[in-house]
Amino acid sequence: MVIACDGVPKIVACPQSQGFKISPQQLEAAITDKTRWLIINSPSNPTGASYSAAEYRRLADLLARHRHVLVMTDDIYEHIRFEGHATPHLLNAAPEPADRLLAVNGVSKTYAMTGWRIGWIAGPSDLIGALNTLLSQAAGNACSISQAAAVEPLNGDQSFVTESVAIYRSRRDRMLTRINQIEGLSCLPPDGAFYLYVNCDGLIGRKTAAGAHPKMTATSRCICSKASASPWSKVAPMAYRRTSASRSQRRSMYSTTASTASLTLSPNSGSIQIESTSCQTPASKRISRLRKWIPR
Ligand SMILES: Cc1ncc(COP(=O)(O)O)c(C=O)c1O
Repeated sequence: MVIACDGVPKIVACPQSQGFKISPQQLEAAITDKTRWLIINSPSNPTGASYSAAEYRRLADLLARHRHVLVMTDDIYEHIRFEGHATPHLLNAAPEPADRLLAVNGVSKTYAMTGWRIGWIAGPSDLIGALNTLLSQAAGNACSISQAAAVEPLNGDQSFVTESVAIYRSRRDRMLTRINQIEGLSCLPPDGAFYLYVNCDGLIGRKTAAGAHPKMTATSRCICSKASASPWSKVAPMAYRRTSASRSQRRSMYSTTASTASLTLSPNSGSIQIESTSCQTPASKRISRLRKWIPR
């Protein structure tokens, strides 16, 4: 997104040892007078990490000294949170950046309405005005049927959210237990969202009992290995596999079992290549495809 807008993304390493979150010191070091936006996604895809009110306050104190930096909070997993009560928001913790903050949200995750393509952005009127100009030409408008459909859950009984979060929590717990029982794999409990970000670093360079490198099946996504050419490997030079708890109990257990089977170093597990590069299209290729569609 940043490159497509002719910006230069500054990706800050937020390793597992710091809960996959940025520290105020790192943020301070990353900001220059050219910095335009800070993008925060909490709870996060793919790690599930979520900032606390105290952590937000520390980031907001710092942002108060850098008023040229605009802030975009991607709050799409706001209601899918396992610990504590409501997900804190940067503006609740510290209202100061309100005049330069865009809060992005939608119905996709909370109400399982991904296909309906309804989201919204709240922010200062000058930014929203500019967005209206851009989006009404670039993307058109949200489908009226989807808009009407989205009104129902937004105004309706919210018990669906409580129930679905309870289901996600129980799937998360079961998958966590099973993953953490596998030698070479480990996973922090995510605070929210519906992903498990599994650390596969303990398997890098290891071989099966038959002497083969375990191979990654085509369905395994989001692997960044030490040998990966992906830009993310510089940021997270460990191997992670994101798995999702959003699928049905049977399918999510199946997927854990499949990972278990394929990631366990048994003689028959020659179908997983942990040392393969990321299965995703390289960012540069995706951007050059995208560029064709961006008017200059
Ligand atoms: C962090 C994050 N933000 C935004 C979105 C976009 O959601 P949608 O386009 O379905 O509204 C996703 C979807 O996966 C996401 O993970």
